[in-house]
Amino acid sequence: MFTHEELHVTAGRRSGVPIALAIHSTALGQALGGCRIWHYADWRDGVEDALRLSSAMTAKNALAGLANGGGKTVAVLPPAARPDRRELLLDVGDAVAALGGRYGTGPDVGSSSDDMTVIGERTSHVFCRPVADGGSGSSSPGTAAGVIAALRATVPDLASGRFAVVGLGSVGADVARRLAAAGARLTVSDVRPDAKALADELGADWASPDEALTAEGDVLVPAALGGVLTADLVPSLRCRAIVGPANNQLASPDVAGLLHERGIRWAPDYVVSAGGIIHAVATELYREAPEVVEARIEGIGDTLTRVYDLADAQHLTPAAAAEQLVAERLTGGTR
Ligand code: PHE
Repeated sequence: MFTHEELHVTAGRRSGVPIALAIHSTALGQALGGCRIWHYADWRDGVEDALRLSSAMTAKNALAGLANGGGKTVAVLPPAARPDRRELLLDVGDAVAALGGRYGTGPDVGSSSDDMTVIGERTSHVFCRPVADGGSGSSSPGTAAGVIAALRATVPDLASGRFAVVGLGSVGADVARRLAAAGARLTVSDVRPDAKALADELGADWASPDEALTAEGDVLVPAALGGVLTADLVPSLRCRAIVGPANNQLASPDVAGLLHERGIRWAPDYVVSAGGIIHAVATELYREAPEVVEARIEGIGDTLTRVYDLADAQHLTPAAAAEQLVAERLTGGTR
């Protein structure tokens, strides 16, 4: 069933690149979600991604305690396309502006803070421009801080745990550094072989993504693209919990049940990854001081504990428990 409020797909006037903009919900306020710039075999796959990612943003913002709904932009690059970046970003800016403030954008996979400045030439509804340009800067450190809070809610003493971080982009690399600093035992992995330099720097074990996904340890930390947790993968997992920032980790919803049956605790990704958007909104909209923002991000640990407790008490998967909390927040209105 189609339950989104809006879906817009336009070919950018300058770049020709299809831009999909989905608003899932504005029940709690302006819809927010980042702008993904990524390659897809078929433009329809990008549209589907925008639909899925925008509904995850509704859940993310609701459990983050923000007065915001969920939306997402996907700039759908054909397989080998290399469009003029500035033209593409201006097209994204126009697409966001056309929604008249019902949706605000920010960085996501494939887009940066600097990109937000260019989008900002066409719309004021943009978050995470560099601090020098009047924004709150990269969302990655906030996201990483939130992942650490979520990991502490799962393994209170990080130094006693063994973690496998899969994906060393800006968030994954930051999480790996914070874990290493906390004295955790670490395996790291990325599809780019040059990311091994970080493993050497941190004294972490290096593995291929496939090896790291099935490594023996306490917690698997998916920090790359979505869809990694497939039904086929579940039997070979050798971790006790999965807690990571990648959006839309479950290849299909039934994987939550398969993980539960194997006794593997899956922390809903939209709870774990909320630190970036919390940082952006609390800094730019609420104008909170850095230590207040930090405390808000720390709250992700308490939210995840509530999810785990509800799941345990009612014999639900954490996914189902989190959905229940989202539904309560959406029907209860702004806290
Ligand atoms: N793209 C990030 C997310 O998925 C963060 C973000 C989005 C930050 C929108 C600010 C605005 O949550």
